Amino acid sequence: MTANRSLKLVERDEDGVDLAFRADVLAGLAEPQKAIPARWFYDDAGSRLFEDITQLPEYYLTRAETEILKARGAEFATLIGPGRAVVEFGSGSSLKTPLLLSAIAPAAYVPLDIAGNFLRASAADLAAKFPGLPVYPVEADFMRRVELPQEVAAMPKLGFFPGSTIGNMVARTAVDLLRSMRTTLGTGAQLLIGMDLIKDIAVLKAAYDDAAGVTAAFNRNLAVRINRELGGDIPLGSLRHEARWSETHARIEMHLVAEDDLAFTVSGEAFTMRKGASIHTENSHKFTPASINLLLLAGGWEPLARWHDRAEQFGVILAEARLPRSAP
Ligand code: TRP
Repeated sequence: MTANRSLKLVERDEDGVDLAFRADVLAGLAEPQKAIPARWFYDDAGSRLFEDITQLPEYYLTRAETEILKARGAEFATLIGPGRAVVEFGSGSSLKTPLLLSAIAPAAYVPLDIAGNFLRASAADLAAKFPGLPVYPVEADFMRRVELPQEVAAMPKLGFFPGSTIGNMVARTAVDLLRSMRTTLGTGAQLLIGMDLIKDIAVLKAAYDDAAGVTAAFNRNLAVRINRELGGDIPLGSLRHEARWSETHARIEMHLVAEDDLAFTVSGEAFTMRKGASIHTENSHKFTPASINLLLLAGGWEPLARWHDRAEQFGVILAEARLPRSAP
């Protein structure tokens, strides 16, 4: 654990209010189209609700990606080879990681996450499952440039970025992240990345608006959190969860829609919403084989192989950071 230089403590005021949370919420609510960064979903209640989402019958993503990782181990072994340091971006609870690690005989595992306690607990679990595999957790925000531990400097790298988390970024941010991963991992590195596919819109919408209302509770929990932590009085009963498909952006958008004209305060600041107006809380972009290739290439990664689940709902792609060479 030598690379903890980027350890970032949460800054709070004298009442214990997370200053970055307040700044993001107040700025986002002041916009004509209200919008709040999705990272604020994940307080303890939000993290638990998200784990529940991954188990829902409508939420096919986790099952489809797991199916691919289970079925393709032998091909991963051939194309990736042994001896790489596996660097997982936003490792969370690392549930899918053993499927990859047991397929490829890696030389080290480097989980990166901003949630330090969570990170160290799941790194310890993993180290117990793979005795002999050096594990070097790094507490870092992967959206910034990350310094990898000295111990893996000389090893070839494999980046691992499952869950279609790349789809939660707008294209320009996704390209920035892919480019910064290339810088972090170095020339000759490979990247194994999950990306969700465009499909029947009703299937997509159901995955983000399930019958049991878990995704609605997850979305509304953001307003619950604002009321609790920022002394807000947002009328929760008047906000409806909506999952919307944007054809232009090829994405599902999550919104909290006002069912009446609303007036409320947050941290002493006053806001209004017209009936039907919304707070935009999340994007989940969906891809085609062509848009997958274009996005990866724009980020400096050459696609080598793509695998789908049997129902062709989800894609896992292996890409490579080629040596720079002249091109027309
Ligand atoms: N990346 C996954 C997805 O877009 C997981 C996820 C992120 C998610 N934020 C979410 C799922 C909000 C449901 C709701 O599906």
